[in-house]
Amino acid sequence: MTSAATPLPSPGKPAWLNAYRDFTQEHGFQPLRVEGRLPEALRGTLVRVGPVTFGVGGQRYGHWFDGDGGALAVRFDGSGAQGAARTIDTPSIRAERAAGKVLYSHYGTAAPSLRRRLFGGAKNTANTSAMTWNGRLFALVESSLPTELSPEDLRTVGETDLGGSVGPAFSAHPHRVASRRTTYNFGIRYGRTVMLDLYELPDAGPSRRMGSLAMPGPLMVHDFIATERHLVFFVSPMRIRIFRVLLGLGSFSDNFDWKPELGTEVLVVPIDEPTKVVRFQAEAFHTWHFGNAFEQDGRIVVDSVRYPDFGSNKWLAEQVNGWASTDAQGRLHRATIDPKAGTLRSEQVSDRRCEFPGVTPLLTGARHRYVYKAAHSGSELWRGPQDAVVKVDMETGKETLVTLGREHYASEPVFIPRPGGSAEDDGWLLTQTYDATSDKTYVAVLDAKTPEAGPVARAWLDHAFPFTFHGTWMPAS
Ligand SMILES: [Fe+2]
Repeated sequence: MTSAATPLPSPGKPAWLNAYRDFTQEHGFQPLRVEGRLPEALRGTLVRVGPVTFGVGGQRYGHWFDGDGGALAVRFDGSGAQGAARTIDTPSIRAERAAGKVLYSHYGTAAPSLRRRLFGGAKNTANTSAMTWNGRLFALVESSLPTELSPEDLRTVGETDLGGSVGPAFSAHPHRVASRRTTYNFGIRYGRTVMLDLYELPDAGPSRRMGSLAMPGPLMVHDFIATERHLVFFVSPMRIRIFRVLLGLGSFSDNFDWKPELGTEVLVVPIDEPTKVVRFQAEAFHTWHFGNAFEQDGRIVVDSVRYPDFGSNKWLAEQVNGWASTDAQGRLHRATIDPKAGTLRSEQVSDRRCEFPGVTPLLTGARHRYVYKAAHSGSELWRGPQDAVVKVDMETGKETLVTLGREHYASEPVFIPRPGGSAEDDGWLLTQTYDATSDKTYVAVLDAKTPEAGPVARAWLDHAFPFTFHGTWMPAS
């Protein structure tokens, strides 16, 4: 059941605001128009997940993160491309659509009834990322269980706790360590003591709970990173004013208290002995996303996008309405952690505003040279979505930036290794891109060795698809 489209805030806003329109043109896989020439060896499916419905019953949600999830898949077979696009159908999304109004607490929208705020649970928006595991496909959001999707046509299969091994929350940021052939993840469990649950998902074999760590209060952890030996968390110094949330005095997002005096807590969890966690405080900063991490001479090197505080949450809330009163302050940083000494030293790699860092999946957890990210091309204050893809050589500091066209807005670039390739950057970068001039979405294929040459191919949908946060690659079997 689909409710009426949520109206956009007002006319006269930037053209890219149209990408925050409710998505209504669902379809299974169908041929896409390809511009340029697809690499013959690029075979598999890019799956992207993001918020695609921005309100219910005519009420626009309070934050971008509240949007009901949808999935976009683009399949490459060496000669052509096919695309599928669907909204995701969790029980709580379905219940709100049937009621025609907000029922549950969302990230930036409070549940209207006290009973729901106390006992109603969080809405499973399934709107943040996609994960593949054991041939299965899942849409993830940090507050809820995974939602399984059919890889054949993207239809929703249903929520799952992976045989009882995960939950109540399974973060939207799983990280696979290539050499361990295992994916790791976490979930935040709220209660009298807030717990960080740790999960392990071997490529072959059942998933399991590794252990749980007590958190110092009600807080949010968005992402983490894994080396071949450790899981690393940066726990920002925020606390959620839970009683205000329960009383209906604003949403979760309205009730984050930034407490820089607490500092950011660094957690280094040995994968093989999770109880022997090292915890220490560093200066206050916030991290939404990590790129990669690796061990080096007893230290841990971590690449992430760092923010001075949590002000970016406001930017994220406002952008979906076509404006922002604040700037996106994320910059790529390289941090070096000495777990024995309990120190973290961090250096800014570039002054460019950016997000969504990533590396080749062949080197996750191991030493890498290149980081790929989405970024803002201009140096002036820019409050809209990212419009560029950047390749960073972490050895030389060189940044290679590519814009895809006037009013073309890029998303997280996903690196696909060329089969049989040997160089770290031998492969392609795929990025879902919104062309605001034609109001259509395409997936750009860039040669990762020479991204500055521009896309070698673009696979065009015949409609727009809202911006997505994260995605995954399913190689052709
Ligand atoms: Fe994220």
